[in-house]
This record gives sequence, C-alpha cells and structure tokens, in this order.
Amino acid sequence: MQFPRTFFVFCSALLLCSSLTYGQKASPPAPAAMTPTPTPAPAPAPEYVNLTYLLSVAGPFHTFLNYLESTKVIDTFQNQANNTEQGITIFVPMDNSFSGLKKPSLSNLSDDQLKSLILFHALPKYYALADFGELSTKGPVSTLAGGQYTLDFTDNSGTVHLDSGWSKTKVTSAVHSTDPVAIYQVDKVLLPEAIFGTDVPPMPAPAPAPAPDVSPAADSPSADSKGGGSSSKSLPSSSTSDGIVGLRLSVWSLMVLTGFGVLVLLS
Ligand SMILES: *[C@@H]1O[C@H](CO)[C@@H](O)[C@H](O)[C@H]1NC(C)=O
Ligand SMILES: *[C@@H]1O[C@H](CO)[C@@H](O)[C@H](O)[C@H]1NC(C)=O
Ligand SMILES: *[C@@H]1O[C@H](CO)[C@@H](O)[C@H](O)[C@H]1NC(C)=O
Repeated sequence: MQFPRTFFVFCSALLLCSSLTYGQKASPPAPAAMTPTPTPAPAPAPEYVNLTYLLSVAGPFHTFLNYLESTKVIDTFQNQANNTEQGITIFVPMDNSFSGLKKPSLSNLSDDQLKSLILFHALPKYYALADFGELSTKGPVSTLAGGQYTLDFTDNSGTVHLDSGWSKTKVTSAVHSTDPVAIYQVDKVLLPEAIFGTDVPPMPAPAPAPAPDVSPAADSPSADSKGGGSSSKSLPSSSTSDGIVGLRLSVWSLMVLTGFGVLVLLS
C-alpha cells in the first residue's frame, strides 16, 4: 500500500503543477505591457502653408493674389509664415471688392504705394478670431507695411471690424486659421489713410455687398486620429490560441495522470 500512495501524491503534485502552468498561460494577457507597440511617428513640424495655393483655391481672391505676385509681397508674406515664431494674419478682399472699388483707383498708385497697400493687409503675427477682442483694446495695430500704416479693430459680439482710417470693413469668413497662418476674408479693400489721406471724397460709393459668407474657421484636419489603434488588434487572438493549447495540454495530462493513477491503485 505504501507505493501506490506515494505515487498518488506524486500524481497530484504533477496535476497541480500542470494546472498552475495552465493558469499562467490562460490568465488574461496584458497586451499593452507585454508587447512592444510600434512607437508613433514624432509629431510633424508645423506644416508648410502654401499661401499662393490657399489663395488660389479659396475666394475668389485672384485680384489680390495678382497684386501679391506683381509686387512680390507674396515672398514677404510667405517668409513671415515660414520663418517666424509670430506667424502672420492676412486680410483678403474678394475679387468683387476690387471691382467695386470706383472712387480711389489703385491704378494711379506708384509701385511703392501699391506695395504698401498690399502689405497693409497683413499683421506680423498669428491671431485667432478670438484674439481680436483683446486686440481691440490696444489701439492702432501695426501692419506689415510698418510706420503709420495701422489698423483699428473692434470686436462686435464676435464679428471683427477693421478700420483703416479710410475704409471700414469686417471679417466675413475665416479661410484658414491654424497657427502660424491666419487668412480672413474681408468685404472691402483696406485703403490706408497714409496713402489716401483726407483729400479724397470722404464717402466712397458703397461696394455691392458680397453675400455674407460666414463659414467656420477651416482648421486643418486633425492628423492625430490616424496613428493609434490599428497595431494592437492582432494581440488578443494569438494569446487566445495560446490559452487553448494550454487548456488542451492540461486536460490531456490530467486524463493521462488520473488514468495512470487508477491503474496503479488497481494493481
Ligand atoms: C505653392 O502653390 C502654387 C500653386 O498651387 C504652386 O505653383 C507652387 O509650386 C507651390 N509652392 C511650393 C513650394 O510647393
Ligand atoms: C517656404 O517654405 C517652402 C517649403 O519649405 C519653400 O519651398 C519656400 O521657398 C519657402 N518660402 C520662403 C519665402 O521662405
Ligand atoms: C489718375 O491720376 C490722373 C492725374 O494724376 C487723374 O487725372 C486721373 O483722374 C486719375 N485717375 C483715377 C481713376 O483716379
């Protein structure tokens, strides 16, 4: 009787061991900790914003874009967008704002004046629409034309109004607003007082009102929804099959061992 009992104890120990191993294998896997997930690509540097491209597809802003290119101010703007911490905010009149411009004609301006007038349409800093409330409390704001070429802003319950001294206009749409580049559509050409002074008739004929085209800020689509989530999907299935193998093994060993034990006990 001594031998079978020892053997039975031995068998039980084996069983215990095998179920322990099974337990380890089948315990719910911790996929995140155990498997190296591919590290996501580092956040890309601020994306290059091609101003020429943006202005050519929105609007229509062809007249403004033509002036930008003929005066080479496009390079100044693009450089400000590319290479400065502050960024740039550009106010862009649509084509019908230029064609509606009867009284002070731009055709009589010198090259330098025209260049200043175009530079006058941008601020050397990125401003989100929400920033104009605070900006309006700060008095005249310098434009890229410098010196006395300033704009006054007022925020009228969310609508940004601009006063150039000669023309009053407002932001009618955000074409692009992602730091460092903001482009806002305005419904009139900004005529600097520094050029047109006060010797021009005080009330220019009202330009045909462009259709109010207030669209939400066209923020760039968020790129961060792409990286996560797809890589960890194969994990659960492989560990499940591991678990099944473990289960089969331990059932098998249980059967063999109990059968063997019974045999020994019977003999
Ligand atoms: C910017 O866009 C314009 C118009 O689409 C294109 O002609 C030009 O090559 C682009 N510039 C760069 C640097 O990609
Ligand atoms: C702005 O950056 C783009 C892309 O790096 C480059 O092609 C273009 O020449 C730059 N323009 C200026 C004015 O810095
Ligand atoms: C342009 O200037 C000339 C003379 O300086 C003047 O006679 C003419 O009326 C001006 N044209 C416009 C459209 O203002």
